[in-house]
Amino acid sequence: MRIEFVPADIQAGANAALAVLAYEAAALSPEAKAVNEASGGALARAVAGGRFTGAKGQTLDLAAPAGLEAARVVLVGVDGVGAVEPEAIEQAAAHAYQAVKASGVSELVLKLGGDAETAARAAFGVKLAAYRFDKYRTTEKAEKKPSVTVVKIAAADPAKAAKAFESLEAVADGILFARDLVSEPANILHPEEFARRVKALEPMGLQVEILGEAAMAKLGMGSLLGVGQGSRRESQLAVIRWTGAADKAAQPIAFVGKGVCFDTGGISIKPAEGMEDMKWDMGGAAAVAGLMHALAGRKAKVNAVGVLGLVENMPDGAAQRPGDVVTSMSGQTIEVINTDAEGRLVLADALWYTQDRFKPKFMIDLATLTGAIIISLGHDYAGLFSNNDGLSEKLLEAGKAEREPLWRMPLPAAYEKQIESPIADMKNIGGRPGGSITAGLFLQKFVNGLPWAHLDIASTAWRKPSNDPTVPDGAAGFGVRLLNRLVADAYEG
Ligand code: BES
Ligand code: MN
Ligand code: ZN
Repeated sequence: MRIEFVPADIQAGANAALAVLAYEAAALSPEAKAVNEASGGALARAVAGGRFTGAKGQTLDLAAPAGLEAARVVLVGVDGVGAVEPEAIEQAAAHAYQAVKASGVSELVLKLGGDAETAARAAFGVKLAAYRFDKYRTTEKAEKKPSVTVVKIAAADPAKAAKAFESLEAVADGILFARDLVSEPANILHPEEFARRVKALEPMGLQVEILGEAAMAKLGMGSLLGVGQGSRRESQLAVIRWTGAADKAAQPIAFVGKGVCFDTGGISIKPAEGMEDMKWDMGGAAAVAGLMHALAGRKAKVNAVGVLGLVENMPDGAAQRPGDVVTSMSGQTIEVINTDAEGRLVLADALWYTQDRFKPKFMIDLATLTGAIIISLGHDYAGLFSNNDGLSEKLLEAGKAEREPLWRMPLPAAYEKQIESPIADMKNIGGRPGGSITAGLFLQKFVNGLPWAHLDIASTAWRKPSNDPTVPDGAAGFGVRLLNRLVADAYEG
């Protein structure tokens, strides 16, 4: 699908749908009024004859309106009484696309008013809404595929809108990169393939190092390596660097991702039902890769590091057993009570390595870490765990601004009792009470006192179904927008 910015007076042709806005109480926007007049009042009559109120997300679809060349008109509700925020325009554009994408028209013309910035946000919304992972569909019928191939966005100054879209498009490309990684099945996207796809980003200006098992063994990463030891696939640690600050030696910020390319649970094997979902268990690593893609794409003025712990958790004759004790890179020993609590074992070494090597300002890890976070928060929030109030505030704000909301959870020291081991420095599970919290407390033992935040995205990494028009069902790419916003608002310049 192609996106173009066009002059505001463009006419939608016979193969096009034309989208215009309505506000609260179904009040028509100036563009909608023009459509209504041209059609002899057809739009107003359609509104009067139905339940359309102009509420956010509502659409009213009018086919073959008399007096207009366009094949259809779609009226999109945005609430409010006139002036519309870029955020609302982004969603309205996505709703318009969802409403007509499979209607048969090949073009969508958006006349949503506003300035260059809102036109760019409309393009951003459409680009995210139009994401589809269809590379493995070879027999899909044409009438099931989206018919819209071009989206034209009317703007007072199309060149200025195109310019404004450049950095947003870089963010969208990062999100789509993450979604593609998350959507790939685990027979294709194993740790080495994941690492290859990240390595292939170097032409964007990123530096990528890949550490294999021998290099990690040398560093003493017994915790991460224990998780991958039952897999035929070699575990990998990917280190991605973006040096965009004026001072190339300035202290970086760091992001760490859980990249379990498939999580069977290992010897503590998961039940069959729903196990296929565990191909998504690298959603944290995908988000970090997508973020680095976005930062490089928009040439962010920041030094940032992304570290991905890439493994496959399999049962096997060589797999680690419940009761095994492993020694992490930090020197701390861990009794592995349950091999299905593997994400924290991967992150333990990835976090320690990151702080040890890069001495960053802070570390933020993203991980599909616990089923318990879904029980706590449902699917609209990711869990935020942190040892730092300032960093938490910034993350909460960024999440709100980007519709990737977080909810802060506590890290009570008293709960550390739950992960005490009789024979090692800790054990890797703390039982059912506060399961996401004890996972967070476990991770905290590997940050060496650095400002740190952990985002448990098990609740948000994928959507089935989705309730956001910019996030189609499936891989969300959750975290890319949020962290890009954090960087842009607080750490660039
Ligand atoms: N990858 C899972 C967490 C998960 C569960 C993500 C459901 C998305 C949906 C993680 O590795 C895991 O298995 N966690 C266990 C921890 C338990 C053994 C302490 C869990 O949540 O059940
Ligand atoms: Mn697991
Ligand atoms: Zn897992």
